[in-house]
Amino acid sequence: MKFFLDTADLSEIEEVASWGALAGVTTNPSLYARTGGKLEDFESHLVRICELVDGPVSGEVTAEDRDGMIEQGKQLAALADNMVVKIPMCVEGLAACRALYDEGIDVNMTLVFSVAQAVLAANAGARYISPFVGRFDDICEDGVSQLYDIVNALGNYDFGHPVEIIAASIRSANHVREAALAGADIATVPYGAMKKCVEHPLTDRGLASFKADWEKVKNA
Ligand code: G3P
Repeated sequence: MKFFLDTADLSEIEEVASWGALAGVTTNPSLYARTGGKLEDFESHLVRICELVDGPVSGEVTAEDRDGMIEQGKQLAALADNMVVKIPMCVEGLAACRALYDEGIDVNMTLVFSVAQAVLAANAGARYISPFVGRFDDICEDGVSQLYDIVNALGNYDFGHPVEIIAASIRSANHVREAALAGADIATVPYGAMKKCVEHPLTDRGLASFKADWEKVKNA
């Protein structure tokens, strides 16, 4: 499973990219709003992210009709070679996904909450499909089990083009564990949860004892 960072914050991206294990970035309008960014700076911000990351960067359309999504999608795709167009799951989104696929543009279909939606997205040419784990949990459903179902269902078919499942709305290291066990191709993880994935109390304890013992060697 590959790791994407789920953020539009440049310093978070720069830091995690420096760890050497980052394969991409996903953004959405809420994540961009969180940076305090202005509308006129949106595209240059995405370009900067594309420069910081050696891998796909998802930028989301905000138009609500298919023609608007297609136009915005083409504009976003033209910003950088590693730009992926994120489109929300809905009838207009599916139609836009198909049109962009026909133009050779990679689409990440977002806000996916069911097997039916995921299969439709794959048939519409989505290169990436993003089931939301945490938000499904939020409504007292089981986001992890839905992710397992989507991975299993899509694995039954060859859609004639590459399809990768991005486990999204990941909130914890445990969600990351479950995404890996489910066989998701990618987990897109916010900065805080990404840091938690690195940490373990036994790692800290082990490091402390190595350090203490090395002091003994130095003083022997
Ligand atoms: O990848 C989708 C993500 O940004 C949504 O996360 O925590 O707002 O549900 P969350």
